[in-house]
Amino acid sequence: MRLALACNRSDRYRLADHRPDDLYEEFDAPETIDAIAEAIAAHGHTVDPIEADRTFPAVLERGKYDFVFNIAEGLTGRCRESQVPAVCEMLGVSYSGSDAITLGITLDKDLAKRVLKGRVRTAAGRLFIHPDRIDLSGMPFPLLAKPNAEGSSKGIRNRSRLTDPITAPSDIAEMIRMYEGPVLVEEFLPGVECTVGVLGNEHPEILGIMEIAPRHTPLGEFVYSLEAKRDYKNQIDYHSPPRFSENTRKAVEQVATEAFIALGCRDFARIDFRFAADGEPCFIEANPLPGLSPIKSDLVLLCRGMDITYHDLIGRILQQAFRRTGLAISGSRVGVS
Ligand SMILES: Nc1ncnc2c1ncn2[C@@H]1O[C@H](COP(=O)(O)OP(=O)(O)O)[C@@H](O)[C@H]1O
Ligand SMILES: [Mg+2]
Repeated sequence: MRLALACNRSDRYRLADHRPDDLYEEFDAPETIDAIAEAIAAHGHTVDPIEADRTFPAVLERGKYDFVFNIAEGLTGRCRESQVPAVCEMLGVSYSGSDAITLGITLDKDLAKRVLKGRVRTAAGRLFIHPDRIDLSGMPFPLLAKPNAEGSSKGIRNRSRLTDPITAPSDIAEMIRMYEGPVLVEEFLPGVECTVGVLGNEHPEILGIMEIAPRHTPLGEFVYSLEAKRDYKNQIDYHSPPRFSENTRKAVEQVATEAFIALGCRDFARIDFRFAADGEPCFIEANPLPGLSPIKSDLVLLCRGMDITYHDLIGRILQQAFRRTGLAISGSRVGVS
């Protein structure tokens, strides 16, 4: 089959001086795009990387592709991840992963929590839109403040764990201005952190769970922040599978499956959880467009722990997407043992 790989290459975009240095943190490194393209080719397809910018619709239409493998984060706005799926649907081309609605809802962390209300436990929180209207009354410290519609830990620093009620309002106001959007402030979940790989459609299966453990910081103060992600080799111990009891593992798998279904995820997703002080797992956010760096993305590290190679992971995603869209798998080597 002829595939297009819809992506936003990180080296295409230059940062303006006054913008935060993590502005383009979500975009994909050329090595990631090359690795995905190689894996797709190894499964028997031809593939062209296509930049998901304003040229995308015309290039997609002209190329007459059979299928789009989508990893594009999109350029701007809360609906940026929805742009490629919406264009593909407009042009009648099948694509991998979740659709525009799911990608839109999950990029807005507060909206995703509202969808899950009553089904999956989430951290109590409040959304602040105006820098001059920040009211933290009744919210017990510590708190965690994060830009509401960002990913890849954009805007999440170690100092996002707020401990001082005097300075917290100005810290939150600063974050609203810096990232030019609402900030979600939540109760700080002090327990173990884990991320769950989910694969499938009608009957999603758990690929695995990975525990994300700080090497030096006490768990109750740990934030899997931009600093921690950029220096993961020194600061983080990844445990895939996690060091959980059987019961805990089952509880996490159940809430991850529930969240995947409730949010309308397709083909694959990575869902982040953290345990509350009382020991129950709480949903933090869903990533239906998770990073696929062959070196450092959480989903890839999780799979490595489960003896699933990068090549297999890409094959399984393709297999799910082809099955869902009714595309023929025969003739390709997508079948994964
Ligand atoms: N309510 C919370 N309590 C404790 N830690 C949190 C909370 N929300 C986020 N975090 C920490 O911040 C990290 C990044 O937050 P997340 O919502 O997953 O954003 P991103 O899209 O950047 O991954 C999490 O992995 C976790 O360590
Ligand atoms: Mg996350």
